Amino acid sequence: MQCEKTIPPLSFGLSQNLLDHALCQYFYKVPCLKSSLLQFQIPRKSQRLLSSLYDYLLRRIRIRSRRRKMCGIFAYLNYNVNRERSYILQVLFNGLRRLEYRGYDSAGISIDHSSSDPKTSSLPPSLVFRQEGNIESLVKSVYQEVAETDLNLKQCFSHHAGIAHTRWATHGEPAPRNSHPQSSDPGNEFLVVHNGVITNYEALKGTLVRHGFTFQSETDTEVIPKLAKYVFDKAKEGEGDQTITFSQVVHEVMRHLEGAYALIFKSWHYPNELIACKRGSPLLLGVKELNENASNGSAFHDDNFLSKSGHPKELFLSSDANAVVEHTKKVLVIEDGEVVHLKDGHVSILKFDKEKHGGLSKVAAVQRALSILEMEVEQINKGNFEHYMQKEIHEQPESLTTTMRGRLLRGGSCKAKTVLLGGLKDHLKTIRRSRRIVFIGCGTSYNAALAARPILEELSGIPVTMEIASDLLDRQGPIYREDTAVFVSQSGETADTLSALEYASENGALCVGITNTVGSAIARNTHCGVHINAGAEIGVASTKAYTSQIVVMAMLALAIGGDTISNQARREAIIDGLFDLPNKVREVLKLDQVMKDLAKQLIAEQSLLVFGRGYNYASALEGALKVKEVALMHSEGILAGEMKHGPLALVDENLPTFVIATRDACFSKQQSVIQQLHARKGRLIVMCSKGDAASVCPAEWESCRVIEVPQLEDCLQPVVNIVPLQLLAYHLTVLRGFNVDQPRNLAKSVTTQ
Ligand code: AGP
Repeated sequence: MQCEKTIPPLSFGLSQNLLDHALCQYFYKVPCLKSSLLQFQIPRKSQRLLSSLYDYLLRRIRIRSRRRKMCGIFAYLNYNVNRERSYILQVLFNGLRRLEYRGYDSAGISIDHSSSDPKTSSLPPSLVFRQEGNIESLVKSVYQEVAETDLNLKQCFSHHAGIAHTRWATHGEPAPRNSHPQSSDPGNEFLVVHNGVITNYEALKGTLVRHGFTFQSETDTEVIPKLAKYVFDKAKEGEGDQTITFSQVVHEVMRHLEGAYALIFKSWHYPNELIACKRGSPLLLGVKELNENASNGSAFHDDNFLSKSGHPKELFLSSDANAVVEHTKKVLVIEDGEVVHLKDGHVSILKFDKEKHGGLSKVAAVQRALSILEMEVEQINKGNFEHYMQKEIHEQPESLTTTMRGRLLRGGSCKAKTVLLGGLKDHLKTIRRSRRIVFIGCGTSYNAALAARPILEELSGIPVTMEIASDLLDRQGPIYREDTAVFVSQSGETADTLSALEYASENGALCVGITNTVGSAIARNTHCGVHINAGAEIGVASTKAYTSQIVVMAMLALAIGGDTISNQARREAIIDGLFDLPNKVREVLKLDQVMKDLAKQLIAEQSLLVFGRGYNYASALEGALKVKEVALMHSEGILAGEMKHGPLALVDENLPTFVIATRDACFSKQQSVIQQLHARKGRLIVMCSKGDAASVCPAEWESCRVIEVPQLEDCLQPVVNIVPLQLLAYHLTVLRGFNVDQPRNLAKSVTTQ
């Protein structure tokens, strides 16, 4: 391993200001303070008190530094291959379109001007375009500006580095000045796109202002390019002719940043180079070789591949695999503390670690092999569907099949049916010995865990408790070494769930991840886990991930639960049910038109109640969540057992009330709930098992609507029962004229707390 020459850290002047210094260093100082204080001769009890006080403080600080924005970053670099400016623009715009689903309110890009010499042109060498609103308004404004200037769209670049960004406003309103790329100065010497939050930006800004910088935006990000310029100028002053490399500039900048970030730097001092680095926020490098000899696959397995220059290639950086997969499947998931330098067709990676008492120390150049993205381009297209949500609802038979592929074993007649979860097999004994299993998640992922809770309790005999991630953190709820904490997250990047993971891990629990996103923070930071393999989910409303999560957790229950004679029949029935599940979902999807007709009847309603219990309490919560988040209609999922303790007061002949009453141990109780609702003239819509219509809704109840669904093993019934509610939410949204895939105010990955 080879170390790059380090430059001595520049005196940035932070220590001149005690407050700045304290702000910049507090995160790392807390543990040191703790150990020094504990050296004093103080009573044991007080020591313990002090120790837990500092642990608490440290946890709060870490949680604070994890807050990230829901922005998207993308970069495209072509090396040794001619690309017209219009092509480069298209690649950048497309990259942004692929990030759109994450949620954003403004966007921007930077490309090169014809001349790389700022002295010979009135325009700066790096052009920046930023716009409030959607990608299409950015595209429009770029072409408008292109037409007004001498910019030639046909101009070819054999080397070029472009960057792009979608912004979700946190610091400063959505406006061009607050959009990224953020710039160091009017000449755009250094440009940065950022996903994350810089927690010490105020201190940095104060220092930079004292050094003569003026700020144009209200963002936390603007300190980064300005800091880069400061570092660069200082090095130039001090080193005379000696040049400072781009990665040295970025390293120095990173030393001063606190918080979470994924960053891409572009600078006309380093033409056709890009630097990306990250701490906390996701970042991915995609590599596309354009040389036929090099694309025979052999180079792919070569760890040195990244250091081969000369071959024409295209390189992509993105916070999301969706923006890369249409170009290449060869990717590298960038790890925390890594700095990736793209220069002359060469990719070098340097790994930096935290120094003992703060800051970052450079460790070494890292050799990494690329991996293959397990996703298809079709997954990110709508196909024949009008919306991603619609497509994702309808592809559930296939996504469920993929979730179960290779994991369910049904041997010959003498062989038992069983489940194999490779990512868990080394930890099953520990999980079985746990005193408690704690499911932790947010939104739909929490609901999926709630649906799986009864079967896990039944098969494992271990108490299972439920935690909404933010609530666990707010309460600092007890988590013990003897606990198994299961983190459920489609994106694997949800800030609350990640902070809860950090908290559970600090408290010594075994942490298991259940996520859809390979290489995500949850996948990387848990001790073991299972990928749900549902394929890319782009609609903000989670649909196919929900059903795949339930299936994975049912398989988890089978894997943890002992294979005893007493439960053999039950286990086999569940495994048979799982095999049959895609067919059952195919069948229930035929209710599409029925649910559309129901949506037409409910189009003008203000509110919808959904009652469920047992296995289908989660279906009620999830159905109501779908309706409120996309159709923007108030909807409440209610545990039917609680009906008489309050919600019954709401029931009248106007309020639509949806009751889930499919066959299981709670069926007769649900029949009674229906009777009571009818007695109060409730406007009933009942979901029941096929053939049960008359048992839940006698023929004389004319106003009662019945939706019959196929019946299957009780613990798998929630997978089927949610589909009509997903369809209802979808059709209600379309009929009410709202945005299906990007509902108002919501983002796909909630990476901020
Ligand atoms: C689902 O429809 C929602 N968009 C939301 O509740 C989501 O499930 C939640 O934010 C958790 O996301 P995750 O699964 O990616 O962690």
